[in-house]
Amino acid sequence: MYKITVIPGDGIGQEVMKPTIDILETLNTKFEFIEKEAGKECYKKHGTNLPEDTIQQCKKSDSVLFGAVTSIPEQKSAIVTLRKKLDLYVNQRPIHSYTNQDINFTIIRENSEGLYSHLEEQKGDEVIALRKITNKGSERIIKYAFNYAQKTGQKRVTAAHKANVLPLTDGIFKNTFYKISEEYPNIDSNDYYIDATAMYLITDPARFDVIVTTNLFGDILSDEGGGLLGSLGLIPSANIGDNNGLFEPVHGSAPDIAGQHKANPTAMILSSCLMLEFLGKQEEADLLHKAVDDVILENKIKTPDMNGTNTTQEVADAILHKM
Ligand code: NAI
Ligand code: MG
Repeated sequence: MYKITVIPGDGIGQEVMKPTIDILETLNTKFEFIEKEAGKECYKKHGTNLPEDTIQQCKKSDSVLFGAVTSIPEQKSAIVTLRKKLDLYVNQRPIHSYTNQDINFTIIRENSEGLYSHLEEQKGDEVIALRKITNKGSERIIKYAFNYAQKTGQKRVTAAHKANVLPLTDGIFKNTFYKISEEYPNIDSNDYYIDATAMYLITDPARFDVIVTTNLFGDILSDEGGGLLGSLGLIPSANIGDNNGLFEPVHGSAPDIAGQHKANPTAMILSSCLMLEFLGKQEEADLLHKAVDDVILENKIKTPDMNGTNTTQEVADAILHKM
């Protein structure tokens, strides 16, 4: 039996997690779910937004399901710290449109270094944030991107970087990319500067299959992907390391709509689908994914972000009904 740590977190993280667990239980996956705390509400109760007990339980589990947390200035980001503690160096974010077949690509975001190294310091008037890029970190994420492209039959891998302005850090990333690309002669490899990538995603998204990029750039492109699809509530993600996986929607805790029962649960539900695949439960993953696809394609039951009037629970119920 697989042990799954469940961290609903704050705001709509709580609201999209509950129906997701109900769906997994209906699939009869025989998972053992262990709920743990993190985030702003957790900080108010325990004085930390990421208790040691939560970290240890994640380390002992086969996978983690994570909702979303509200950030607080007093504490380092709980999710960034958790990704680091579990050495989840891959952040895989599929952007697939149901209405425009040109929009069908996956962002592979480096998840352990870059500007998310928590290396910020104040020196008098100056405040400096360090952006750390290593050979090892670049190599493992770029290899993952090419292996992913090969496994899923994608034609092209594109590196997005800013090596013109950051010749040392992004120089390593770009050079490593072309070195590793030689091991994959059947896959097209090209690169663009990050700003041009952001534009091409809007003007000509069909040119992208797999995008591999550093931490902050991947974060920004992912939300642009949400914009391309029309809602952030549709994009799931897998955080993967050598020993563990953490699955979470790309969106945050959305305080602007929290408590109003209108969060789109699709991103969280599809994240659980990525977890099922990761744990080798392909049949259950396919069944669930098809149910989600059917509900979206029918275009009847939908939350306000998709121009609908339904609640989170009604969308989840429609998916359960299809299953
Ligand atoms: P956000 O992703 O929470 O929301 C951005 C916009 O998208 C909002 O208008 C929101 O209503 C909408 N939205 C997001 N998810 C939706 C869903 N499932 N259904 C319908 N609409 C949805 O990002 P924002 O507002 O920048 O940040 C809010 C809080 O979340 C902050 O404290 C931020 O630090 C945190 N955050 C946490 C993340 C995590 O836990 N992994 C990731 C991103 C942000
Ligand atoms: Mg983000």
